[in-house]
Amino acid sequence: MKQYLSILLIFLIAMTMIAETTKLPTPSIDKKASLSEALANRKSTREFGGGTLTAQQTSNLLWAAYGITREDGKLVVPAALNRHAFTLYLMTAKGVERFNAKDNTLTTVVAKDLRAMAEGRKTLGPAAAAVVLLVADTTVFKDMSGNGDFYLGVEAGAICQDIYLYAAAEKWNALCCGSVDAAGLSKALELPATQKPVLTMIVGPGKTK
Ligand SMILES: Cc1cc2nc3c(=O)[nH]c(=O)nc-3n(C[C@H](O)[C@H](O)[C@H](O)COP(=O)(O)O)c2cc1C
Repeated sequence: MKQYLSILLIFLIAMTMIAETTKLPTPSIDKKASLSEALANRKSTREFGGGTLTAQQTSNLLWAAYGITREDGKLVVPAALNRHAFTLYLMTAKGVERFNAKDNTLTTVVAKDLRAMAEGRKTLGPAAAAVVLLVADTTVFKDMSGNGDFYLGVEAGAICQDIYLYAAAEKWNALCCGSVDAAGLSKALELPATQKPVLTMIVGPGKTK
């Protein structure tokens, strides 16, 4: 009997340690805005009106940022040598989740609101519905003799622009932030030394007038 109870206890502990993964709906951003409208309305805004994103909006946002668009697994953004160097994390009031583009899922990493670490002022992240954190794998371009950081920057720029454009299509506000608390986030997310938080995109509806 004692043995069975021990096995049950181990099983229950293991279950709580398995990170929760949720499937996102299929992305669908048709007819939100024309490309020219989204391009013309892309801008940085430092005022957010809170709220939360729906599962559909979350899926659309992450697909626009780093979704798979082709059978061979290639992404919506270009990547030097087709080496995908980034992992995207979604930061909301409920915590931080890792985006898995291959199966369009989110896996909970930390059940704690870390949005204040998204930007130097520490106020804009918590005021917005969501923050997308870009974490670079610094080993991906190690063999590129000095060009690695440049390649990482180009890929990050494409991700940021796609998020800006999706936000513009939704008539949301958005801000790209380099002033990220990288050390704090690395610690909180228990990232290995090779994984570097580099940028955040703060997004969500603005204040209603
Ligand atoms: C790589 C990068 C880092 C940025 N970091 C910050 C930042 O830390 N804080 C901030 O308020 N804006 C930041 N911005 C936003 C710029 O200030 C903004 O893009 C610029 O003022 C031009 O405005 P626009 O985006 O509306 O055209 C950043 C933009 C980029 C591209």
